Amino acid sequence: ADTQTGQLRQIYALSADLFHHILINTAIGEPALNYLHQRGLSDETIETFYLGFAPTQQVLLPFLKDRNFSRELLVRSGLFSEGNDGSLYQRFKERVLFPIRDPQKRVIAFSGRLLTKNDQLPKYLNSPETVLFNKRKVLFNFDLAKGEIRQQGFAILFEGFMDVISAYQAGVHQGVASMGTSLTNEQIYLLERTTERLCLCYDGDSPGQKATARALQLLQPLTKLELGVIPIPGQRDPDEYINQESPAAFVKLVENGQQNQMSFWFSFLATERNLTNENDQLAYISDVLEKIAGVASPVARDLYLGQLAKRFSLDKKSLAGQLHSLLQQQA
Ligand code: GTP
Ligand code: MN
Ligand code: MN
Ligand code: MN
Ligand code: MN
Repeated sequence: ADTQTGQLRQIYALSADLFHHILINTAIGEPALNYLHQRGLSDETIETFYLGFAPTQQVLLPFLKDRNFSRELLVRSGLFSEGNDGSLYQRFKERVLFPIRDPQKRVIAFSGRLLTKNDQLPKYLNSPETVLFNKRKVLFNFDLAKGEIRQQGFAILFEGFMDVISAYQAGVHQGVASMGTSLTNEQIYLLERTTERLCLCYDGDSPGQKATARALQLLQPLTKLELGVIPIPGQRDPDEYINQESPAAFVKLVENGQQNQMSFWFSFLATERNLTNENDQLAYISDVLEKIAGVASPVARDLYLGQLAKRFSLDKKSLAGQLHSLLQQQA
């Protein structure tokens, strides 16, 4: 590795140490530590994820200055922005920091969450891309989750870092999250090398369900991974569910609440329609048939067709006829 890359690694490791220290041991960090405790995180979890706090005060520059990093490298680290007067300003201010680690457990970036709501600023702010950090390639928590993914036989994809962390604390260790975007080919490849099954556990609200639908549509043609969904009851995200119900209730959801893709479509497509209305019923049936046509196994297709027929008291033959023409369109 060239020395610049090595030095960048050093800058991130030192920054993570400093921000973690501020969170754990200083009065400046106390509000942030209280915040994390109020959100239900234990000291052990805060340690495991090496969470930190970046205060308003410019603490990072003086801390790194004594260590002979060039100004150019400090700028390239993405941890500072350059003011008009040429001075360097710490990028993360009043934010709880989630260190982003590579598969070798080295800190390569941060995501920072605002400690207090501010409509002028984004809730989460990520490090910019550097030679160390390509957000398309990173899955948050993959380093800690990998072993458990292999052991359990499936990975869980969450929307948020807090969901991954709360699940981990609840004993569900195989959770990962992307950097707030849909999965990239690189991330899919990383998962495919580790497991054969991926469960989406997104927020239970309407945007979360729509995101699940979009993710399934995106992933289906791209991957051989078997796709499942873990729906969260109520309009909550997994972190809220764990805190409002219990860690054990979430473990149960993961163990017993997994839907396959078709069950998800059966219920999701229904939420988009008013099924007491005949036009909506017809549209729903045609939507579901389209999903069934995408299923590779003829036996599975037949099973779903039977379920659909039963639900609307239809003759399975007429549905089969419509499915047949859909399949021919595809061929
Ligand atoms: P909490 O409010 O801390 O519980 O966060 P959350 O994880 O529930 O956040 P939310 O469901 O709103 O968003 C899920 C994920 O999307 C976050 O973990 C981020 O990765 C990303 N995200 C949310 N808000 C922003 C934002 O303002 N900017 C960026 N870049 N990413 C965001
Ligand atoms: Mn475990
Ligand atoms: Mn959300
Ligand atoms: Mn959320
Ligand atoms: Mn949340």
